[in-house]
Amino acid sequence: MKREICVFAVLTLCVPATVCALDNGLARTPPMGWNSWNKFQCNVSESLIKEAANAMVHTGMRDAGYQYVVIDDCWQVNRDANGNIVADPQRFPAGIKALSDYIHSQGLKFGIYSDAGTGTCENRPGSRGYEFQDARQYAAWGADYLKYDWCNHSTQDAAASYSIMRDALAKSGRPIVFSLCEWGVTKPWLWAKDVGNLWRTTQDIFDKWDGKTPSGDPVGVLQILDSQDGLESYAGPGHWNDPDMLEVGNGGMTATEYRSHFSLWCLMAAPLMAGNDIRSMSDETRDILTNKEVIAVDQDPLGKQGHRVKRAGDSEVWAKEMSDGSRAVALLNRGGMEERITVEWTGIGYPAHLRAAVRDLWEHKNLDHAKGSFSASVPGHGVAMLLIRPE
Ligand code: GLA
Repeated sequence: MKREICVFAVLTLCVPATVCALDNGLARTPPMGWNSWNKFQCNVSESLIKEAANAMVHTGMRDAGYQYVVIDDCWQVNRDANGNIVADPQRFPAGIKALSDYIHSQGLKFGIYSDAGTGTCENRPGSRGYEFQDARQYAAWGADYLKYDWCNHSTQDAAASYSIMRDALAKSGRPIVFSLCEWGVTKPWLWAKDVGNLWRTTQDIFDKWDGKTPSGDPVGVLQILDSQDGLESYAGPGHWNDPDMLEVGNGGMTATEYRSHFSLWCLMAAPLMAGNDIRSMSDETRDILTNKEVIAVDQDPLGKQGHRVKRAGDSEVWAKEMSDGSRAVALLNRGGMEERITVEWTGIGYPAHLRAAVRDLWEHKNLDHAKGSFSASVPGHGVAMLLIRPE
């Protein structure tokens, strides 16, 4: 473990020669997995999580790169007399270690959830004051990933609170991906690179294309997308912006919209945490989640987050630089009517005279050898997801 002067000395009471910056070597590409929350909320159990692990294998998700099986809130009920966190004995009768062993036996990794405050968002015990004890316990259970929420934090400072758990995880001796879930409130992209492997940048996602709720919460796919543009410089190998988990397959959007949601998350190098019932998903949903060409955009080792390069009414062009010099491009139609959308080479960092091969990553087809620009008709709420490779 590297030792260095802490950049958060004031906030974390770190002193020179203590372990301060995040240096766990994990999440060199955006983490991929499945999380129980979006579909099941508090209705988690040992059997559900085991079935989800089985589904990760037999649906081909594991082979497509999904690794982490994460139990979100509500697995925990209280603390014992020694302060140890206690899992719900009814819902997890064999205990968390046995569940973790099972997940590992399927060639997968195990993720768990807690909260930096005194209670989780569902008012289960939080880790405030128990950080080192909890981190030791997670490591003993074989956890590979911790999602750490931000409810019930009272007057706590976010950077300081999350740094305590970072140090506790480092001390546990087990490599554990650290996922910060502070919803973007204190702009974690400005401070969390030295604390976590990924940080939520928004409030919770809604299973909606355009998510304006009656109370005005801007949290559908389009609103989240808009809030990510401009954050791209903060992401990179080991430290990612997290625009929240996937809703693909949860029923609130059309297949076209889910394809767009997935494409755009990949374009943004977002963590890909499936949030649907993968035990019973349709072939259409499975095909979206396991499209290896689109996933390769997300997982590109250069680790660049894409951004919007053009906006004209409902038509947009988003582009992501890839490690081989090519560009992944999403032609996005936000509106309801079909639109013809054009990407100009000059907008994606190529000279106008360049000839490039254009491949459609949903159709798995080479489309064209284009010079200067490429246009496609895109259905309402759809994307054309392209790979543009100089020849
Ligand atoms: C918060 C998080 C969600 C989920 C719930 C659990 O709302 O943002 O992703 O973890 O808490 O209670």
